[in-house]
Amino acid sequence: MPNLRVHFVPDLVEPTELAGNRCVVVDVLRATTTMATALAAGARAVVPCLTVEDARQGASSFPPGEVVLGGERGGLPIEGFDLGNSPAEYHAGVVADKTVVLTTTNGTQALVHCQAASEIVIGAFVNLSAVCEHLMQRADADAIDVDVVCAGTELHVTWDDVLLAGAVAERLAADPNWQLDPQAEIARDAWLALSGSGSGGELKDRLVAALRESRGGRNLIRIGMQSDIELAAAIDSLSVLARFDPTTGAVVLTDSHSTPADPT
Ligand code: MLT
Repeated sequence: MPNLRVHFVPDLVEPTELAGNRCVVVDVLRATTTMATALAAGARAVVPCLTVEDARQGASSFPPGEVVLGGERGGLPIEGFDLGNSPAEYHAGVVADKTVVLTTTNGTQALVHCQAASEIVIGAFVNLSAVCEHLMQRADADAIDVDVVCAGTELHVTWDDVLLAGAVAERLAADPNWQLDPQAEIARDAWLALSGSGSGGELKDRLVAALRESRGGRNLIRIGMQSDIELAAAIDSLSVLARFDPTTGAVVLTDSHSTPADPT
């Protein structure tokens, strides 16, 4: 049965070590949350770009009206871009039937780091169950090892990503055939300490509080974007599964999770 490994920042795993594996890329605050949100709102694809210049150039290759250019640097919107990196901005009225070209500080880099993997799934709290169900189903079919790659924040570990990795580890470990590596166990234990019934209050409130304390959360609070933390903490608010295909350079919904755009 498969191994589950967790990498707290991308640099802790060589890209070649990911070759042939199944990766879950995690940037809870906010890149993967925003990608899942945009696709659930009917965006055709999200094209992650490493640099602001690449993103501008990528967007200019689409006919006008078919593309939305989004992203952040230092958490803030980029001059001349249509949108920042707040999931709240990526609603159907703006992105339905459009391609989103997106550049972010850490999340898009993490995706590119994983490009040798055989499958690259977008992970966030908003689509936690869809991701876990997919991993469990695929494990039954092919038993390929899974690497959860946390984007971190500028080379630093951040709790928002570790907690999501832990939530995935906890779900998978319900089947004793999964072998967790030590980082997966640490992440799972951190998640259990937060989610356990002895912790008091609603899980959503505890998760929001933990995300506010995380490195990514503190950054968002500093720049006045704390409302994004609540959106990112909405466990299973979306039932989408999205994959990055390095050959096309795009993140798209898997066939079984393609949903028509809500025109509102
Ligand atoms: C990133 O990719 O670095 C982030 O998602 C940062 C942010 O949204 O502010």
